Amino acid sequence: MENRERYPRFPLLWGETPLHPLPRLAQRLRIGGLWVKRDDLTGVALGGNKVRKLEFLLGEAKEAGCDVVITGGSPQSNHARLTAGAARRAGMEAWLVFAGSRYGKEQGNLLLDRLMGARCFLSGVYGSEALLEAMKAKAQEAETEGKRPFVIPVGGSTVRGDYGYVHATEECVRQMEEQNLSPFNRVVVAVGSGGTLAGLLVGKQLYPQLTEQILGVSVWLDEERATMEVARLTDSLSQALAFEPIPPSEIEITAAHVGGGYGRPTAEGKRAIRLLAETEGLFVDPVYTGKALAGLIACAEREDWSQQRVLFWHTGGTPGIFTHAATLLE
Ligand SMILES: Cc1ncc(COP(=O)(O)O)c(C=O)c1O
Repeated sequence: MENRERYPRFPLLWGETPLHPLPRLAQRLRIGGLWVKRDDLTGVALGGNKVRKLEFLLGEAKEAGCDVVITGGSPQSNHARLTAGAARRAGMEAWLVFAGSRYGKEQGNLLLDRLMGARCFLSGVYGSEALLEAMKAKAQEAETEGKRPFVIPVGGSTVRGDYGYVHATEECVRQMEEQNLSPFNRVVVAVGSGGTLAGLLVGKQLYPQLTEQILGVSVWLDEERATMEVARLTDSLSQALAFEPIPPSEIEITAAHVGGGYGRPTAEGKRAIRLLAETEGLFVDPVYTGKALAGLIACAEREDWSQQRVLFWHTGGTPGIFTHAATLLE
């Protein structure tokens, strides 16, 4: 456990997120043991995985003496909402550069961005690279206003951001020791820009007692592109930390649950939302965590998991439930 805080951290979490069993869902799915790591409860702006990245990204921004945080995504981006919340907690301004030329419904994440007083802009462009250019242009504008901007790329998947999930692995392993839990057979987690999975994979190098395998469920890219992206991120992170590179065979990603595309709810994702809500009183969202849970359910139904011990790593996204209210009630 000697690896703690390799980079400066701006603390945003209130201690550890809970690690607890899901006995009723496990019984329903005939899984030997099922647990959840509650990164939907990360303590700022309704929580989610990005807060763990933001602790280290804001550590970097503070170190550089910045006073405005600029990031981007879709107008319903969880990452943008959590960046705005984290910036506010750090006493900084938040500028959000959105893809496309329409805000859409003033609901869910966008509503929360507005309530936090984030400055919102429509870039007219799509895609992570084009958005990064648009954010850099905004950073120049901020400089002409005499501000000191800090740009965070879409998803916050930089070395420092992804390091947040190495840190999270350590936390989870510590909780497993306290609860006398032996290693899981599988951890299941949603994959968007890939940094969360990359951080967990590098964390598992350091703490192999976490799990035998980690399954990433892509909500966006196909398997090949998602795997390439996660490999690129694990390579950068391992190199920065002077660890051995992750063998490509360790990166296991399924894109079988993307459905009609990013942000489009699927029937199995909606079923997963209801199943978790009905059995455990917990919520996943239609864009990320509902699809990841659908991936877990599909494995449990296809394979015999009656002897398996599985951890669902909940990454948040709760405001998405409200943006998709109409389809969820279908
Ligand atoms: C709720 C939720 N889960 C999972 C992810 C995916 O995380 P990553 O981009 O690190 O793969 C995101 C990213 O925005 C998210 O908002």
